[in-house]
Amino acid sequence: MRPDRSGGVSPLKGQIMEEKKLLYSKEIIDQRVKSLAGTISRDLEGKDVVLIGVLKGAFIFLADLARHLSIPHAVDFVRLASYGSGSVSSGEITFSKDIETDIEGKDVLIVEDIIDTGTSIAFLQEKLGERHPNSIKVCALIDKKERRERTVAADYVGFALGEGFIVGYGLDFDEKFRCLPEIYVIKEGNSDYSV
Ligand code: IMP
Ligand code: MG
Repeated sequence: MRPDRSGGVSPLKGQIMEEKKLLYSKEIIDQRVKSLAGTISRDLEGKDVVLIGVLKGAFIFLADLARHLSIPHAVDFVRLASYGSGSVSSGEITFSKDIETDIEGKDVLIVEDIIDTGTSIAFLQEKLGERHPNSIKVCALIDKKERRERTVAADYVGFALGEGFIVGYGLDFDEKFRCLPEIYVIKEGNSDYSV
């Protein structure tokens, strides 16, 4: 059995780890990421591609995706700050870290861990769009549709999910569990946490 990597956490978080349920194994994630990279490489062949990863959640997904792409591409990152509490983004978002790349005339691929309400992706599409890229596409590892508040659609989706709060493979709960190689559900339905 793999050691519990949640060591030193509060009893509640310890309990969460015990109750976690495996959702996507390493093998399944790897297969999906390779397949997405194949499709993206075909679609964006010959373009001036810039991957823009959304920190922090997308760092592992982006690292794997980028290594499976067969086309040249630049990599940059944004980090968003949203006002609000718990795991729900509020409407007010700002860049706490912006990209350093000039994307004018380039083909941008936003790489996101999970789309939930859609607020973050809607913000990014609007703000990056103002910089006149040739195109903007969205690649999300997980598309969680049930709490969508903004009409956004990802061009490339690893897995479609209903409700539930998930961790692992970059995704965190209160900064924990990002480095688990698999993805787990820690709460099914009503994923509005407050600890
Ligand atoms: P949105 O703006 O509501 O679409 O928020 C998306 C962001 O919320 C993601 O990039 C994650 O950082 C976070 N998030 C939403 N659902 C989950 C989840 O199930 N696990 C971990 N993070 C999540
Ligand atoms: Mg995120």
